[in-house]
Amino acid sequence: MKRKFMALVLVAAMALTMLAGCGSKPASNQGGSSGDGLNIGICIYNYSDNFMTLYRTELEAYLKGMGHTVTVMDGKNDQVEQTNQIENFITQGVDVLIINLVQSSAATQITDKCHAAGIPVVYINREPDDTEKQRWVDNGIKATYVGADARQSGTFQGEIVLSLADKGDVNGDGTVKYVMVQGDPENVDAQYRTEFSIKALTDAGVKVECLDIQRGDWDQTRGQEIVANALTNFGNDIDVVFCNNDAMALGAAQAIAAANRTVGKDIYLLGVDALTEALEKVIDGSMTGTVFNDHIGQSHAAGDAAVKFAAGESLDTLIGVDYIKVTKENAQSILDLLK
Ligand code: BGC
Repeated sequence: MKRKFMALVLVAAMALTMLAGCGSKPASNQGGSSGDGLNIGICIYNYSDNFMTLYRTELEAYLKGMGHTVTVMDGKNDQVEQTNQIENFITQGVDVLIINLVQSSAATQITDKCHAAGIPVVYINREPDDTEKQRWVDNGIKATYVGADARQSGTFQGEIVLSLADKGDVNGDGTVKYVMVQGDPENVDAQYRTEFSIKALTDAGVKVECLDIQRGDWDQTRGQEIVANALTNFGNDIDVVFCNNDAMALGAAQAIAAANRTVGKDIYLLGVDALTEALEKVIDGSMTGTVFNDHIGQSHAAGDAAVKFAAGESLDTLIGVDYIKVTKENAQSILDLLK
């Protein structure tokens, strides 16, 4: 027990060191330095996404703080609309593009347009597949992906469950029975979080059973509806609700409260992102845990990559940023750091 506690303290300390180390401090807290005044175009897949709103706000502040001119466009979850926006940026002759694709599968078409115009591109959040990344290497294309490895976030969700005294089997029937609320599969994050959260449990020898798996498209209302239905259909059989992101977990928390179930007592609830509201819920116990999807580290790494590309540097096709596990022990420190 004591060893377990020490390990947790160590993880929390490591998390804080990592946050400090990778410059994960909001741009508004850092003070800007003057840059060489690049003209940068940014395309976001959908402004109504909570996580991408945090991300784009930080990215814009970071680049503007360095003295660059930044234009951000809302793709409105429509690839045709976003492709038009990219074509306009190309016509305007921006120095570099940062793109959060609506559809990852559009990467080849978009990369070719940018490459033909001599404009480097930094993809964020929705990762182009390995074949596409290999094409960049083979053809000397100036493109990269900056993001976190969603396998890690799934594993962290599973590990948080494993760290509980009953390893997630809250009703003690010998099997961890779960409901999985998935994001939009256009982002591989949805697929990997679903797979690796459960893999962490089965790798540790825990018996699991999926009661329900539904697509909630990263959306809070969908999360609430899916979990409300699952609670009606499966009642006390449900031990754990896994959500691929916090927005859906916040919806799940509403459904759990409405069904008079209590997180930590008769059900567990996990999310990913570490949105402020979710961190507050982890602190007050109404969520079991979440995983910090470091939008600060990611946006700064993406901004730095864009500036380096525009300056003629070559970059790897993948620039990774780590996730951080969040439980009651370190939620307050993460919240403080994000302020
Ligand atoms: C985040 C989700 C977000 C999605 C958008 C994921 O990495 O965890 O909250 O909705 O990206 O593509």
